[in-house]
Amino acid sequence: MRKSIQGIGALAALAVAFSAFAGTAFAGKDKMNFGKYQVGELRTGYTFSTPETRAIQDDDFENPAFLWVDVGEALWNKKEGKAGKSCASCHKNASASMRGVGARYPVFNKKLGKLQNLEQRINQERVEKMQAKPLKYESKELLGLTMFVRNQSKDMPINVSIDGPAAPFFEKGKKFYFQRRGQLDMACANCHVDNPGGMIRANLLSQGQSNGFPLYRLKWQKPGSLHRRFRGCNKQVRAKPYSYGADEYVNLELYVAWRGQGLPVETPAVRM
Ligand code: HEC
Ligand code: HEC
Repeated sequence: MRKSIQGIGALAALAVAFSAFAGTAFAGKDKMNFGKYQVGELRTGYTFSTPETRAIQDDDFENPAFLWVDVGEALWNKKEGKAGKSCASCHKNASASMRGVGARYPVFNKKLGKLQNLEQRINQERVEKMQAKPLKYESKELLGLTMFVRNQSKDMPINVSIDGPAAPFFEKGKKFYFQRRGQLDMACANCHVDNPGGMIRANLLSQGQSNGFPLYRLKWQKPGSLHRRFRGCNKQVRAKPYSYGADEYVNLELYVAWRGQGLPVETPAVRM
């Protein structure tokens, strides 16, 4: 959340800055070849990043997010809880057992009767299979483990299922995406569908794709979950954010993932 956006004057300025770009045609403006980060009309946030930010992501040794991936890998192998097991006790090598899993989430979970995202699945595994405590949302541990699991699907196309039992939740997520909210009365779509490539104050708007999450934000100086990003975007329009792991956000997560269906998993991405 930009601390500098304060007061009605600033809000009005934000709206004006935005409207100056409303209707700006985006397609074809940028003729660069973004390789795997562009699939048809879909472009990941990488293609809207500065060359400097891209360079940090491109080099696994320079990418600070890998410190968290390493935390996740250590946890994968660490025995915790009353069952005396680690993730690895059952799933062995994550590069085989978790390959493709991160590209499919969130999924409908029969027992819960609703969608479940990867963070929630990991915690379910800890509680039910390890008899260990769930990890706190946005903790170094849960971010690390989620990034580690997602990273096993690196470069695989996002491949979520939106039909069958997932359909009604997908519809809710879609509705959320197009619903105007907050003092600025703006929907996700007003920024990320209508205006990618446009500026909103100092920010270059992307398509708002989720394929790189959890990702490292230079502004945060640490990685954050997709729900942290949703909260930030809600607050940007002065709307009340939902809590981490809220059903509303998990449904939204499915819709946003589906918008980027076919884009490669980029976790852990690096953004401004
Ligand atoms: C006691 C064995 C056991 C342990 C320990 C365990 N799992 Fe699992 N896990 C399973 C089994 C079996 C399944 C598939 C059947 C099911 O849904 O229960 C599964 C399913 C999963 C899935 C869903 C895969 C999919 O295709 O949707 C994920 C993700 C996962 N485990 C991650 C983990 C992580 C991360 C840990 C450690 C925190 C862990 N598991 C610990 C046995 C285990
Ligand atoms: C007022 C404009 C605005 C609105 C409305 C908005 N966002 Fe954003 N969003 C941004 C900006 C600015 C960024 C950072 C630059 C970028 O990637 O677009 C961003 C980034 C994102 C990203 C990260 C993209 C990446 O590659 O790192 C996602 C995902 C996202 N938004 C989703 C949403 C969702 C879902 C909503 C609706 C709840 C929403 N946004 C509403 C302005 C907005």
